[in-house]
Amino acid sequence: MENKNKKVNHIAIAVPDVKEAAIKWQQALNIKKSEIIVLEKHGVKVVFLEFSNLKIELLEPLNNQSPISKFLEKNPKGGMHHICFEVEKISETLDSLKNKKINILGDGNPKIGAHNKPVIFLHPSDLSGTLVELEET
Ligand code: CO
Repeated sequence: MENKNKKVNHIAIAVPDVKEAAIKWQQALNIKKSEIIVLEKHGVKVVFLEFSNLKIELLEPLNNQSPISKFLEKNPKGGMHHICFEVEKISETLDSLKNKKINILGDGNPKIGAHNKPVIFLHPSDLSGTLVELEET
């Protein structure tokens, strides 16, 4: 894998109330925000904060089945949930990660993510306690 295409796509922050959080972020950083978008299938409400080089996604769980909701139990005020990097071909990336014994969450196969593109998540214990998402672009 080469590094030249490893752009950060987004940083996801779990929040207890996305409307309130979006207003705070907008006021603090004077940044453009999207409307609230409900992603039923992913169990979250999202607001995108649009920076020139990346998006920040504020995620509020829709129910307590959501992985975000477990995260909020441990971090009631919210906190950084994951970083997403872009990759060109997720199948090649997956083979390479398996060879390096990096653990993939779930069944190890790509899923369609919140942007309708294939994604995988790498196990936080392999990357300094940080949940990393890789998205095919
Ligand atoms: Co993400």
